[in-house]
Amino acid sequence: MTLVLLWLACASPATDTSDTADTGADTSDTGADTSDTAETGDTADSGVSAFEGVVFPIYEAKCAGCHTYWGADADALYAAWSDAGLALVVAGDRHASPLYDKVANEPPAEGGRMPLQLSYLDDDALANVADWIDAGAAKATFGNLYDQVFRARSCSMCHQDWGFSPDEVHESWLADEGAGALVVPGDAAGSYLYQKLIDGGTYGSRMPVWYPPLDAGEVEAIGAWIDAGATR
Ligand code: HEC
Ligand code: HEC
Repeated sequence: MTLVLLWLACASPATDTSDTADTGADTSDTGADTSDTAETGDTADSGVSAFEGVVFPIYEAKCAGCHTYWGADADALYAAWSDAGLALVVAGDRHASPLYDKVANEPPAEGGRMPLQLSYLDDDALANVADWIDAGAAKATFGNLYDQVFRARSCSMCHQDWGFSPDEVHESWLADEGAGALVVPGDAAGSYLYQKLIDGGTYGSRMPVWYPPLDAGEVEAIGAWIDAGATR
């Protein structure tokens, strides 16, 4: 293992959750304000971790009690919200998304403001949902994980044996190397890769060594991707 490409370490994005510029901006959202562009720079909330780490927990806390038919895990929820027939989410445009209208506006275009009977989403939660939609409403895919975790966190600086292109890295993670593959599709908890990223994992030091650990949402996103089949 050689340590070239050290400069890559500097490429780690700041995990800045203190985006205060946009809190409070959306509470009076009438759907007409297209000028609130301050949110688009918030990579912490719109990155790979956003759906699994931020949006799904909101659903669990505030929506799942009534909307059980949307499913019990992040994949089921994503599939339900992606249903073209329902058209709840228009990727890239919160104002065109009925889902956002239903949680942000009083009253929304149809029916009652969500969640019914519970307190409405606070400014941070609304901003997170808005950012996730505006950034493309993505869910963790291998391509996103490769760009936003593997490359952004400079894993390749030390793990050059995995290769560098997305195809090489995916193949390395899935390849059976005798001691067992790093990634067991469908089983995050049983995957060496996942165990190396969580606090208290079963295999030695937490990755990336020397650097700050991945945030909970990123680890969650990797776990969800593995559990969903670890496809390329
Ligand atoms: C107490 C039960 C309850 C809770 C909690 C709740 N909903 Fe609803 N939701 C309903 C009912 C009933 C309707 C149909 C009537 C209406 O639209 O007002 C509905 C309709 C909707 C719709 C319109 C499309 C559809 O599938 O019917 C959306 C979108 C929605 N809810 C989103 C949410 C979100 C997001 C949350 C969590 C932040 C949430 N709801 C929490 C009961 C609930
Ligand atoms: C500064 C160097 C360094 C960085 C950066 C780094 N690792 Fe490691 N990694 C190591 C070393 C050394 C080992 C072997 C010792 C151990 O397992 O603790 C290792 C072991 C591993 C293993 C166990 C299997 C194997 O191939 O050895 C996994 C999985 C892993 N790292 C994942 C990652 C991921 C994912 C990242 C990026 C988020 C990362 N590492 C970043 C140095 C690094």
